[in-house]
Amino acid sequence: MQLALYRYWRPQRFAEVVGQETTVRALVNAVAQGRVSHAYLFSGPRGTGKTSVAKIMAKAVNCEAPWEGEPCNACWCCREITRGAFMDVIEIDAASNRGIDEIRDLREKVRIMPAQGKKKVYIIDEVHMLTQEAFNALLKTLEEPPASVMFILATTESHKIPSTILSRCQIYGFRRLSGEEIVGRLQQVVGQGSVEPAALDAIARRAGGSLRDALGILDQCLVLRNGEVRKQDVMDVLGIVDDGYLGDLVGCVAAGDVRGVLTLLGRALDEGKDAQQLVRELALYWRDLLVLSTVGEGMEMAVISTDSLPRAREQAAMWSSTALLAAVEKLMDISGRLRLQDNPRYVLEAALLGLMPVAGGREALRMPTPGEAAARRPAASRAREARENPAREEGAFPWAQVMQRVKHKRVTTHALLAPAQVLGSEGGVVRLGFSPAFTFHREKLAERENRELVLQVLEEVTGSRWSLELVQMAPESNGNSLVQTAKEVFGEDRVEVKE
Ligand SMILES: Nc1ncnc2c1ncn2[C@@H]1O[C@H](COP(=O)(O)OP(=O)(O)OP(=O)(O)O)[C@@H](O)[C@H]1O
Ligand SMILES: [Mg+2]
Ligand SMILES: [Zn+2]
Repeated sequence: MQLALYRYWRPQRFAEVVGQETTVRALVNAVAQGRVSHAYLFSGPRGTGKTSVAKIMAKAVNCEAPWEGEPCNACWCCREITRGAFMDVIEIDAASNRGIDEIRDLREKVRIMPAQGKKKVYIIDEVHMLTQEAFNALLKTLEEPPASVMFILATTESHKIPSTILSRCQIYGFRRLSGEEIVGRLQQVVGQGSVEPAALDAIARRAGGSLRDALGILDQCLVLRNGEVRKQDVMDVLGIVDDGYLGDLVGCVAAGDVRGVLTLLGRALDEGKDAQQLVRELALYWRDLLVLSTVGEGMEMAVISTDSLPRAREQAAMWSSTALLAAVEKLMDISGRLRLQDNPRYVLEAALLGLMPVAGGREALRMPTPGEAAARRPAASRAREARENPAREEGAFPWAQVMQRVKHKRVTTHALLAPAQVLGSEGGVVRLGFSPAFTFHREKLAERENRELVLQVLEEVTGSRWSLELVQMAPESNGNSLVQTAKEVFGEDRVEVKE
């Protein structure tokens, strides 16, 4: 049987370790200067090199011909350790029952001199799993360690380790590997193979900083297509959708395009994508938008690839950071609850519609004529407006045409306009109303670039020049159109309004 990639590609020298520079440098120096400590704790996320570095360390202190702190990997000791057959390098899995027994007789065993090498090295993995009793036993040995013994403890959860133990160890942190570091290693692994760069990029993004996970995904993809890897394969292996799709979906939400949202969602679910996974990916997409809108470029994106950045930048500009954060939180929250749902599709649909600008869902599908918009407002406010604008001509303004043309010119401006209601168009002034939920849209439209585009289109469509008044409306005027939309979409009986 062929060795799994991640095992075949286990680093055998400090120089082969990806990332973890500070840790590696400190350890190499300690070995080179003959100043190794008797106890180390390697702490950090899974698959970042803790066990690998522990074994390199074990070789380095036992090697017959070490060179500048590195093991030679050629002498008998090095080879036996690599094989896992060296008697003086003892690996204990603290998560297993046997591991606990092994810790219990540690105190006697450590007194016995090394049988084959210079130093006995105990590598205790998952050390946070030890029982209190086992911790006590370990502590006793750490308090009075024989000179010929070295301990390397490894854990993903150092906060679970008693401080009495921590204080007797030199502690080294292992960090998540960056996307770039992971891609670099994957490239090395595939060599000259036929692999789409976007595929490696996608793997790195989904590996969460773990090189072991990244190699695992790559392995599955390589098997799938006999050595070739495409981005689509990665998506299939992971059961996820690509960021182009996520961008389309988020675009529909932004534009209040209910039909678009439902169609895109349906497509993915029909293709067998997992709803929970999809929500997770969506949450990450919004998280990336939040990062773009607050910190800006230069931060690592979780799901958005370089190709998709231009559109993502535009999308990020369409929400306030508060709204982006709310979207991330909402989706995270839902992702936890989806597991318990027997019909995740509806939960997901409702969540996405809920993220639409409150009144936008309906308006964007079919822009109301000013007459309709006026009719939707309470009679009292209509009467007030009639008094204020006696010359008002209802129903004649070609707003739908204006929207059409704006959309053609700049999608983002169109989306900002989507929740607007035409309140009036007289005296050379077009008055657009925004409910308080769309303050952000209103403010964005007031910026020169957007404003000028709208004015230009108004002139093109009507043949005369206008000025624009962007009005904040009272909260009541947006009615309950989200509930209405939900009822239309899900059916009357499925929608329950909770106050
Ligand atoms: N920093 C790294 N440099 C090179 N390869 C790495 C690194 N981290 C992980 N790998 C790869 O992942 C595999 C697993 O790494 P390792 O067992 O050292 O991780 P770990 O930190 O001990 O993880 P866990 O906490 O799950 O035990 C290695 O065999 C190697 O292929
Ligand atoms: Mg490990
Ligand atoms: Zn050697």
